[in-house]
Amino acid sequence: MGQLHLSNTMQIASSIAEMRELRRQLPEPVGFVPTMGFLHEGHLSLVRRARAENKSVVASIFVNPTQFGPNDDFEAYPRDEERDLAQLEAENTDVILMPQPSEMYPVDASSWVVVEGLTDGLEGAARPGHFRGVTTIVAKLFNIVEPTRSYFGQKDAQQALVIQKMAKDLNMNLEVIVCPTVREPDGLAMSSRNVYLNPDERRSALVLNESLKLAQQLFDDGERDAGLIKRKMREMIEREPKSEIDYISIADTSTLAELDRIEDGALVSLVVKIGKPRLLDNVILGGPA
Ligand code: PAJ
Repeated sequence: MGQLHLSNTMQIASSIAEMRELRRQLPEPVGFVPTMGFLHEGHLSLVRRARAENKSVVASIFVNPTQFGPNDDFEAYPRDEERDLAQLEAENTDVILMPQPSEMYPVDASSWVVVEGLTDGLEGAARPGHFRGVTTIVAKLFNIVEPTRSYFGQKDAQQALVIQKMAKDLNMNLEVIVCPTVREPDGLAMSSRNVYLNPDERRSALVLNESLKLAQQLFDDGERDAGLIKRKMREMIEREPKSEIDYISIADTSTLAELDRIEDGALVSLVVKIGKPRLLDNVILGGPA
């Protein structure tokens, strides 16, 4: 028989003190889903997993300024607080943490959390300082929420690895769980930034998933030459006139070192600019999709 969730009303904590107070009253274990809001089914899949595996669920909504570069879309990042809260309430979230930027980053703050090595390539190379912002805010949120488990999406594969490494290296007392990428029916990976796409660009954006399926097909047919797989992906994407490839990578699934030959498995990841947004997607070859 399913466990009955006695739904009390969802609480919103807009300060760290409020969050700590509510945290004391939450039944253990506590699952935590950090987000930047503008929620979609990808985010909600994490909330559902947290709900299924824990007695209490906390989600945070905070558009974290320190992970955006000077040319990134911090000011324009899509926001819809009312809709986000309704969606989280529908998933029986217990507490939403929506902290103030001034409390998260007081003017005299001077400490950062940095994960070296894993952040050198891919998004780390393309967006200098991005992961320092991510690891710092996630470490702060972990310290404030003190979750038993936290949930991240495979959609941001490097981010998930970096956070797992941070938690391990710094002996953080929680489990970091990575959940599968949720896609639109036509295969486009869900992303808050997909709203930037006009209908033509939305169609072109399918080429990301198509090229990952091509990589999967080549791998399934026995191809192990990473350079060749990347070339074929590149050819496919370049046939799409609106696309501009930022990078295509085939890397070791735990170190993210770029591979010439695929032995057991690999993370195939790519970033393609379609119109305004940089779209990000990936697949793991030789492991769970
Ligand atoms: P955000 O982009 O809002 O994503 C929040 C979480 O949702 C991340 O773990 C992300 O990987 C996951 N997610 C996004 N799209 C997904 C999809 N299509 N399927 C499955 N999961 C998906 O990632 C961030 O925010 C921030 O960097 C954050 C970790 C909150 C730190 O500021």
